[in-house]
Amino acid sequence: MAERRVFRDPAAVARAAAQTVAAAAARAIAGRGVFRIGLSGGRTPELLYRLLASPEFRDRVDWPRVHALFADERDAPPTEPESNYWWIRKLLLERVGVPPGSVHRMKADAVDLDQAARDYEPAVSEPIDLLVLGLGEDGHTASLFPGSPLLEEGGRRVAAVHDSPEPPPRRITLTPRAIAEAREVLVLATGAGKASAVGRALAREGETRACPARLLRDGEWLLDEAAAG
Ligand code: 6PG
Repeated sequence: MAERRVFRDPAAVARAAAQTVAAAAARAIAGRGVFRIGLSGGRTPELLYRLLASPEFRDRVDWPRVHALFADERDAPPTEPESNYWWIRKLLLERVGVPPGSVHRMKADAVDLDQAARDYEPAVSEPIDLLVLGLGEDGHTASLFPGSPLLEEGGRRVAAVHDSPEPPPRRITLTPRAIAEAREVLVLATGAGKASAVGRALAREGETRACPARLLRDGEWLLDEAAAG
């Protein structure tokens, strides 16, 4: 359900987001026995991931029942900090003890990128319980950039990106279908640099093609005062 909440600073946003994650995990585990969370890279969720791994929060989620999925991935080996997998694993997944077999990496470093995207489809054939997303100053989300033909994609839930305007050009991303199917979407935006993109994403009028983050309008948006403009 669409919701917007504005907090004083990024730390307060992270705290509210951690509470949303803990509540969504409890609901999913009570209902279906597992919690399938979709995680994003970028700098914005760093405070959230650190907080979830902190003594205050780590026992509020039953981590052995968590399956970690990714919103997108860059063409980087899993051993390199440029990969969302590496970074999120170090910051959160390893520290809280998500079983390695429950961490579903997108292999955007594969030679055959389209095949690697197809190989990820079974991981998201069931809806993601909570998908955590950010947005870029250009209005992109996951690796869905303005003007991308993937914004028109209706069939696939996962797709290769060969020409991302932000480096590296090769990536794998969830598509609008996978985002629409997620049971809950949590959007985080902090800092004045995001204010214009947030405004365009949440404006009544506008085109998703120009601002892909409009796909997230029905989600729960947690903003700091700077990003809320
Ligand atoms: C990524 C993301 C991407 C990110 C936005 C915001 O891997 O880069 O999935 O969509 O969320 O670019 O990034 P920042 O949080 O760094 O501003």
